[in-house]
Amino acid sequence: MNKSLHVAIIMDGNGRWAEARGEKRVKGHEAGAKVVREITKFCSKHKDIERITLYAFSTENWKRPRLEVEFLMKLLEHYLKNELEEYIKNNVKFEAIGDIRAFSKSLQKLIKKVEEKTSHCDGLVQSLALNYGAHDEILRAVNQLKNEKKDITEEMFSNALDCKDEVDIMIRTGGDHRISNFLLWQLSYAELFFIDTLWPDFNAEELGKIIDQFNIRERRFGGLN
Ligand code: IPE
Ligand code: IPE
Ligand code: MG
Repeated sequence: MNKSLHVAIIMDGNGRWAEARGEKRVKGHEAGAKVVREITKFCSKHKDIERITLYAFSTENWKRPRLEVEFLMKLLEHYLKNELEEYIKNNVKFEAIGDIRAFSKSLQKLIKKVEEKTSHCDGLVQSLALNYGAHDEILRAVNQLKNEKKDITEEMFSNALDCKDEVDIMIRTGGDHRISNFLLWQLSYAELFFIDTLWPDFNAEELGKIIDQFNIRERRFGGLN
């Protein structure tokens, strides 16, 4: 069967999860990384999921305390180094969206390496949004197209974005009901799920229930059913 679903997740609530346990916020990020692994594995086995896009670091997250930002960079490095084998084992192609030029040269190199080494995998695409902001993505696309002589079509614009695929299911964990600069173009007809579960407590079972709910929603795309 053809896989076709694009699931996008705002993985929110790591800091609050840790604070509720009397721990430092970074412990929540560590716990959150384990959930990324579980969810990716689940999606790679799921019959309908083709792509999962995970919001890991926004263009606004640089405003956080320096030590937290540094920890997140180290965690990302550690995660990618450890995950390479797992990606290949589960036939997952890794891809980064966002402007990674803001990261250290070594982290950029590692990101490219994992992209290359998993480029043959065709079971699932795991796309990590890294230094990603939808405004930044849209502006980079506009600048890429600005010398185009023809009128810009929807298809041309979409192809100039980092993420070229419309989202079917958008989930935000952590209880807040907002988009926080995530995939503004691609969410146009996504089904939205805002849940209270903090990201480190999220699991494959809860994702499975969301997909069941999605399957009974009626999507009309502006037409009539
Ligand atoms: C999401 O969790 C992870 C990142 C933004 C990197 P938070 O760190 O935002 O956790 P809360 O929302 O403060 O609990
Ligand atoms: C959104 O979470 C970004 C990521 C999950 C990477 P934030 O915690 O940064 O969002 P706000 O500040 O609550 O909008
Ligand atoms: Mg947050």
